[in-house]
Amino acid sequence: MTERTRTQGWWREAVIYQVYPRSYRDTDGDGVGDLPGIASRLDHLAELGVDAVWISPIYPSPMADFGYDVADYTGIDPLFGTMADFDALLAAAHGRGLKVILDFVPNHSSEAHPWFVESRSSHDNRRRDWYIWRDAAPEGGPPTNWQSASGGPAWEWDGGTGQYYLHTFLPEQPDLNWRNPEVRAAMLDAMRFWFKKGVDGFRLDVVYHCVKDAEFREDPVNPDHEPAIDPPFGAVIRTHSSDQPEVMPLVVEPMRALADEMGGRLLIGEIYLPPARLMRYYGTDGSGVQLPFNFALVFADWNAGALRDLILGYERLLPEGGWPNWVLGNHDQSRIATRIGPGGARLAAVLLLAGLRGTPTIYYGDEIGMEDVPIPPDRVRDPWERNMPGLGEGRDPCRTPMRWTDGRGAGFCAPDVKPWLPIGTVGPDGTVAAQADAPGSMLTLHQALLRLRRTHPALHRGDYEAIDVQGDVLLVVRRAKGERIAVALNFGDRMAEVALPSDVTGVLLGAQDAARPSAKLLRLPLRAAAIVALAV
Ligand code: GLC
Repeated sequence: MTERTRTQGWWREAVIYQVYPRSYRDTDGDGVGDLPGIASRLDHLAELGVDAVWISPIYPSPMADFGYDVADYTGIDPLFGTMADFDALLAAAHGRGLKVILDFVPNHSSEAHPWFVESRSSHDNRRRDWYIWRDAAPEGGPPTNWQSASGGPAWEWDGGTGQYYLHTFLPEQPDLNWRNPEVRAAMLDAMRFWFKKGVDGFRLDVVYHCVKDAEFREDPVNPDHEPAIDPPFGAVIRTHSSDQPEVMPLVVEPMRALADEMGGRLLIGEIYLPPARLMRYYGTDGSGVQLPFNFALVFADWNAGALRDLILGYERLLPEGGWPNWVLGNHDQSRIATRIGPGGARLAAVLLLAGLRGTPTIYYGDEIGMEDVPIPPDRVRDPWERNMPGLGEGRDPCRTPMRWTDGRGAGFCAPDVKPWLPIGTVGPDGTVAAQADAPGSMLTLHQALLRLRRTHPALHRGDYEAIDVQGDVLLVVRRAKGERIAVALNFGDRMAEVALPSDVTGVLLGAQDAARPSAKLLRLPLRAAAIVALAV
């Protein structure tokens, strides 16, 4: 495979949509979403205009981390349905031209996975080395100071065999030992199983954590850590417990070789690293993941200057042939409409789907402006909230049921069913049904943006001609194939006047009277956006 074919593909012009399956639609009355529920809503995705759906884990799991603790990498948890349900969903999605991306969890399994059950049974079990076992430190206690992302030390004592095992997340999620070739082969076999079924790609859960320091050195202590306000994992800097040079050769490159061998499959890496360190995961000559998730917007300051610097900084670091990608939120982060308010979320949607070069990922519910739902203490489900109370680490608020219709159950579940997380107060406008035909709704904005994106090469593959700041306005000019399109976003709370590099030839989106097409000037009301075609 040549470098060119490795860095080209359907995913470059695609828009990805993440479904958190527990919260999409419940069809069997248990208050938890399921595969038939997703299948029943494929029309929504087709009408929205996305190209691929990424589904968070659906494998058999004790659900200690709601599916990110996998007990069988090639099965379907009965909570979500059957393998026949999955096959039907895949066929139905493909029938509508939608790609399906599954979540693969390589760093750890569930403690209930038969591999771990064997591994912990004795020192000489054939799978002992499939996980990471260490003796206690000479002075007693955990072998290193490594911290779990889910709260507390990353080592759990196993009384039965008198050793500690490593868990970068919950104790119920023991880390697999990717230095063991049998583990690598078994995990690649699991991926092959789904690829053979026709799955179009994987999102690789915390793939940068997969290999740890061979010498088990202590992580440096973080001098800036404030235990009262910072989560406990921030007490150390993950120098030796994450992002090791061996992740590429031992984990990512073999996965990419398999994805290529199966033909045109996509790998997305979930990698929370600063851009400079993230870029390594593209690999050389397309040997890494095609899309290492870029979370810069999740942590951004939403003002024109900061966004310009962030976009330029990211673009500057991109390796040759590397295709950008952008994310506003996911099942681990506070929702965009809560982070920057409903008006800000509209601007963010325009930026994500028209302003920015690269593959965007939309988090379910963001297309109707869903906000975080407050979770009363007796409804908390996320173990992170339980382990790190009050530190803002709980993820239930952004995982609440999708709001399809008004009324009890919100079309997520039957009215008499208790949903696994509260639905919150459903305003009459906050549903898919209400927004579907409402001009100016968040949903119709998304539909319009995705239609525009699809029809204009400048938007789905165009380069940047300019990324400028004029006062509170971010002005992005993109071009492709004799087409120039300006995307102007007013982050301020005053009317702004924007000077364009050439005359407006048409208003593609935004208040029709916002633009004065004969001039190089655009008037932009407070917190508004416009997309205009420019003279070439
Ligand atoms: C990823 C997932 C998160 C999960 C963790 C452990 O960050 O997105 O939900 O808890 O990995 O698998």
